[in-house]
Amino acid sequence: MGPLGAEEFSENVELNFQDDNSGVYPQAGQGQTRPPTIFVIFGAQGDLTKRKLIPALYNLAVSRHLPQEFAILGVDGVSMNTEDFRVKIRRDIQELSTHPIELTIKEWLLDRLYYLSGDFRNPQTYEHLRKMLSELDTQYGTGGNYLYYMATSPSFFGEIVQNLGAKGLVAQENKQARRIVIEKPFGHDLSSAQTLNSTLRSVLDEKQIYRIDHYLGKETVQNILVFRFANGIFEPVWNRQYIDHVQITVAETLGVEHRGTYYDKAGALRDMVPNHLLQILAFVAMEPPNAFDPEAVRNEKAKLLRAIQPMNPMEVLQSTVAGQYGAGIYNGTQVLPYRSEDNVASTSLRETYTAMTLSIESWRWEGVPFYLRTGKRLKKRVTEVVIQFKSAPLMLFRKTPVDRLTPNVLVIRIQPDEGISLSFGAKIPGPQVQVGSVNMDFQYADYFGDAPSTGYETLLHDVMAGDATLFQRSDNVELGWSVVDPILKVWDSLGTHAIHSYSAGTWGPPDADALLAKDGRMWRNYE
Ligand code: BG6
Repeated sequence: MGPLGAEEFSENVELNFQDDNSGVYPQAGQGQTRPPTIFVIFGAQGDLTKRKLIPALYNLAVSRHLPQEFAILGVDGVSMNTEDFRVKIRRDIQELSTHPIELTIKEWLLDRLYYLSGDFRNPQTYEHLRKMLSELDTQYGTGGNYLYYMATSPSFFGEIVQNLGAKGLVAQENKQARRIVIEKPFGHDLSSAQTLNSTLRSVLDEKQIYRIDHYLGKETVQNILVFRFANGIFEPVWNRQYIDHVQITVAETLGVEHRGTYYDKAGALRDMVPNHLLQILAFVAMEPPNAFDPEAVRNEKAKLLRAIQPMNPMEVLQSTVAGQYGAGIYNGTQVLPYRSEDNVASTSLRETYTAMTLSIESWRWEGVPFYLRTGKRLKKRVTEVVIQFKSAPLMLFRKTPVDRLTPNVLVIRIQPDEGISLSFGAKIPGPQVQVGSVNMDFQYADYFGDAPSTGYETLLHDVMAGDATLFQRSDNVELGWSVVDPILKVWDSLGTHAIHSYSAGTWGPPDADALLAKDGRMWRNYE
């Protein structure tokens, strides 16, 4: 994982451009893995391609992380030729690039961009695809290595893969790399995820499948592992003896925007918990893997997810909260309630907020509650992990004015403010013994500057390099669904009683505060 290490970076800045027949592009640095690849995008006309994939590929080209032998082939139902597709993508790069435009790099990329229009359900499309891939292989020397990115609606995933299989386009008989990247949602419950996994596995080997979770592309999420395992001082206290509880918050200020059709079927629980929140939880709570390799890391994640106690119906009632936003004020303006958003049913019972307490049954975490919450139209956009340690004994201060000690809190800030802070008690200057809480604060930007990225660069690079460490294995996905399935069942059976409303622009329903209050704890909220 993580192609953009400091060493590699300094290697890259020394690179020179060179002119050859295949365009202007720098040589690879020593030891870099940039295997020749054709990057095939199903859903090339969609938003994901425009906003994330193309800008990320452009950024990878700028940082010299694409191979010289490289081409992109967009496939979509919209009728268009390659020339027009290049015009469109040229415009998109101009509009959406997160990095200043470097003309030579942009042209290099556009010269390698092709388009095939075709219906994903029509076998003929795949006949045309085979022909085009073989022509591009000859032209760019890509050696039959194909990466297929499923940027389509999930309803096409299975069918596209089956069609690719039927045309022999995923066979790796001559040791070519043929990989599939699948976006979320990966199923809508445990059984549909299992069905999708078995469809994929009827055509592909598990090692060819890269299930993407864009949260694992965030540097700050990857840094949780580095923070825990590259430092000697945290791991000894990372357990039930020292930690009181953990909070994981993914709060958004936006509403459902233009995604009402999808969201009103999914809801906050399906949309965020089995994937993003549990991935963060796994990184925070798993045992140290014995190597930074895909199987070692994913085995530990699977062990952790398996240790989350499934809830019985009574526990669902006591330990989960579902909320839906009503009208409210966001950014000084009045915003619509969820039920008035486009493509949302006016009687919708879908949750836009969820909070829950999870217990992990393990030697390390027995008795330590993990509080998770996520929601839309909340007061502030913030994604963070809060580790609250147990308080020190007060004994020493018995004869002083200090009547209680504030626990140490470690906050891992994932976005938008990226950093880590640790609070601790300090003596307030003066003749009396008084203790105040102060912060040690690390900000990513202070040390590493602002990296203009889409969050997809590392993940795309890793698929090309064949490193699946940051991707979800089939068991990881299914274990995620096993945690939320019992909750969904109870909520469904409760109907209207399951949903608590909250005003847009607040921290969610009061019931979520009660969830922690009954354990004598509080969410860490912001003004
Ligand atoms: C997506 C969800 O997976 O993640 C969206 O479908 C959500 O509903 C988004 O808004 C949040 O991602 P980020 O990177 O903006 O925190």
